[in-house]
Amino acid sequence: MSERIDLAALPHDFLWGTATSAYQIEGAVTEDGRSPSIWDTFSHTPGKTAGGEHGDVACDHYHRWREDIGLMQRLGTDGYRLSIAWPRVVPGGEGEVNPKGLAFYDRLIDALLEAGITPSVTLYHWDLPQVLQDRGGWPERATAEHFAAYAAVVAERLGDRVAHWATLNEPLCSAWIGHLEGTMAPGLTDLTAAVRASYHLLLGHGLAAQAVRAAAPAAEIGIVNNLSTVHAATDRPEDAAAARRMDGHVNRWWLDPVHGRGFPADMREVYGVELPERPGDAETIAAPLDWLGLNYYFPAAVTDDPAGPAPRVRSVRRPGVPRTGMDWEIDAGGITTLLLRLTHEYGARKLYVTENGSAFPDAVRADGTVDDPERREYLERHLAACAAAARQGAPLAGYFAWSLLDNFEWAYGYDKRFGLVHVDFRTQRRTVKGSGHRYADIVRAHRGRARNAA
Ligand code: IFM
Repeated sequence: MSERIDLAALPHDFLWGTATSAYQIEGAVTEDGRSPSIWDTFSHTPGKTAGGEHGDVACDHYHRWREDIGLMQRLGTDGYRLSIAWPRVVPGGEGEVNPKGLAFYDRLIDALLEAGITPSVTLYHWDLPQVLQDRGGWPERATAEHFAAYAAVVAERLGDRVAHWATLNEPLCSAWIGHLEGTMAPGLTDLTAAVRASYHLLLGHGLAAQAVRAAAPAAEIGIVNNLSTVHAATDRPEDAAAARRMDGHVNRWWLDPVHGRGFPADMREVYGVELPERPGDAETIAAPLDWLGLNYYFPAAVTDDPAGPAPRVRSVRRPGVPRTGMDWEIDAGGITTLLLRLTHEYGARKLYVTENGSAFPDAVRADGTVDDPERREYLERHLAACAAAARQGAPLAGYFAWSLLDNFEWAYGYDKRFGLVHVDFRTQRRTVKGSGHRYADIVRAHRGRARNAA
């Protein structure tokens, strides 16, 4: 099977990893001085998540992290992408640092390094301290400044051991889903708030990048975006224009400013919201980056929706296209397209696939094993597509499977399982799925090649 994946196209020191995020796995939400985040508030608000589920316990990783590092070792991975919970480290959002919060990550990083696993740290994966939301959250400039101060605290503490840093995870979701669509925290449906949030998220990214660089000069800093290939549903000119707007909304709005091109003019017009720009911001947002992270899940097929909210597009279902348990289209080729786009259109010098994975309903068999052929196939096809991009010149340096563990899938709760490792949420028992074993085989095969070639 690994013949289908052109492993020879991947560099010998390719980083094979898994990814998680703090709120989705840690639990222990009231322990050791952690304050509530916007996701604690959102998930405890009736009607916001499936079955009213929340991250209070999640995978109990806060207490089981040693076991979870053991699982990474069983998979043979040498990279792990984790996020730091801002409300654990600076519970007030700004100001006083919580030593116990930092100590948790300190221990985790040491143990990862001891296990031969390179940590890749994301500073913000959606868990804004609620106290900052109460003061206006990301639509306010102060939040970007507090984010940079928090980033400095973390980098000062961990920067002697952590080389890989990401400022933000998927700012698109924070801004568009959290402030425009309202189905993620903080649950607003306000275009002005959403556009202002998008601006301050990217400003926060730039300020945090500066802060991390100052604290850890050898740090390699990047940003993680979830991008999609966009297709017009028909060849009508209106749908072609809709596809262009959707590309602006999900891709260019997030990529152009960090590459010094400013916010796309066509999208400024589509949103019609004045950006809270100040002199010098554009340069801050375009702080030099060492790498770009791509989270890839699905393509978008869209049609014009003149009466809909900005950006006035509607996603359509393409008949006959296979879908995951999230009802997301499966199109592995999209990952190749996007990696090459980042290479050629944005001049990326180093790329990581920072997330890629699929949710399918898993059945635990009578013998306790979990076979998940659909996820296995998804993984194989997407890895083959990554290798194809590398073969065509994309400087791909690593792949992080989403996710190490089944976890709290935000508004969908625990029903949508993305893990390579199954979690029984009643007992917290972990079981490596068939896809996890397959991933371990692929990692081993690539290592073997790399060793032989050396
Ligand atoms: O679970 C999420 C993750 O937090 C961000 N990227 C997409 C994943 C699957 O929806």
